[in-house]
Amino acid sequence: MDALDLLLQRRSASRLADPAPEGETLENILQAGLRAPDHGALQPWHFVMITEEGRERFSQLLVSAATGDGADEKAIEKAQNAPFRAPLIIAVIARCEEHPKVPEWEQVVSAGCAVMAMQMAAQAQGFNGIWRSGAWTEHEVVRQGLGCRPQDKIVGFLYLGTPRLKAAPLTAVDPAPFVSYF
Ligand SMILES: Cc1cc2nc3c(=O)[nH]c(=O)nc-3n(C[C@H](O)[C@H](O)[C@H](O)COP(=O)(O)O)c2cc1C
Repeated sequence: MDALDLLLQRRSASRLADPAPEGETLENILQAGLRAPDHGALQPWHFVMITEEGRERFSQLLVSAATGDGADEKAIEKAQNAPFRAPLIIAVIARCEEHPKVPEWEQVVSAGCAVMAMQMAAQAQGFNGIWRSGAWTEHEVVRQGLGCRPQDKIVGFLYLGTPRLKAAPLTAVDPAPFVSYF
């Protein structure tokens, strides 16, 4: 796929089925994430791969977080089912360190760029997915379950798989309201 087409046609897919990207395809996705812009070459990211029976363990983690919050039955069921919306989830954690020149926000943005790069690498290879966040990203039970240190931030969960639906055509957005000249 042409690089400019990929940039202009990028879109998310939330309805995902098997198969998940694997092998060389998945390696390309990870390599794309590792090529995200990175001030100071800090590599401020960690990718937790959640797939196969890992989804069951992640489901249990979300259920224990929801139960601990006193969530109602519907919310607990939603938490339980969430990991099964895609065959692969990559939890992306910004591994932030104190640095004299690179503030925390830059490290978080770098990890965010890694999410988008991985989504685009998936799309370029015939797969796709969606970047999700939600309250779980800040939940202490989930953070601990995914191995976060106090200074780390979960920037999102990249759900990946094979899109179930053909994407509707995109209409170009007029850039004028978003642009000014100095
Ligand atoms: C940091 C971040 C968090 C997001 N969290 C969610 C989310 O929890 N649930 C959701 O449906 N979309 C979420 N989105 C938006 C989707 O990833 C997606 O961009 C949106 O559905 C629009 O689709 P598009 O990417 O095809 O334009 C999030 C996006 C970003 C950048």
